[in-house]
Amino acid sequence: MERVVEPELMDDAVQALAYARADFADPNGAFVDQFLARFGTPPPATILDLGCGPADISARLATALPAAHVDALDGSPAMLDCARDVLAGYPAAAHRVNLVLSMVPVAPGVLPHSQYQAIVSNSLLHHLHVPAVLWRSVAELGAPGTAVLVMDLYRPASKANAAAIVEQYAADEAAVLKEDFYNSLLAAFTPAEVEDQLAAAGLSLKVETISDRHLLVSGRLS
Ligand SMILES: C[S@@+](CC[C@H](N)C(=O)[O-])C[C@H]1O[C@@H](n2cnc3c(N)ncnc32)[C@H](O)[C@@H]1O
Repeated sequence: MERVVEPELMDDAVQALAYARADFADPNGAFVDQFLARFGTPPPATILDLGCGPADISARLATALPAAHVDALDGSPAMLDCARDVLAGYPAAAHRVNLVLSMVPVAPGVLPHSQYQAIVSNSLLHHLHVPAVLWRSVAELGAPGTAVLVMDLYRPASKANAAAIVEQYAADEAAVLKEDFYNSLLAAFTPAEVEDQLAAAGLSLKVETISDRHLLVSGRLS
């Protein structure tokens, strides 16, 4: 099946709020567990979360890593409004999560650091019309040794498969979320396409499929 792109930003207030209110506790917790298992020792002090959305993952990382500061970046003002509410639920960590309104690719001088010890991103890649901007940002904002963890959906073989995945995992969700999920599956890349993107960017990172719909890109920059 050919890729069908979707709008990059989730900047509609209703869409952003529905996404922020959805229960992603399990996948977000699993993302943080994956990060800690691979890169928790030594703990990074500076983390960049690209396409942070409601910043639940940023807040969970800051909670799990009490010495870490997280710059959480998204291009959608509506999402960052939701993120402010989410952070209020993490009082012990919220002051170490800095919300940054910016697009990827990030313009010079927008972020407080020029290089990060860890760069994470969940479910941004499939939004990007030019996926190379993510990998270029990883290369530019990282340094040798920077930990990288990127998770995203991967594209199923057909629209029928995508619809079946939505029914299997989101049958009871709001219609707007089910539609988002379906569109995201159609917009996602295959593992082979992601391998090609990494090779073109000169990044030696590992691509794994970790479920029937998720892939994980991980490693340390060389
Ligand atoms: C599906 S959400 C994922 C949010 C969050 N990472 C999570 O896992 O809950 C994708 C986010 O990426 C943001 N986004 C998409 N394209 C972007 C770009 N080029 N620059 C910055 N943010 C972008 C959207 O606004 C949205 O908030």
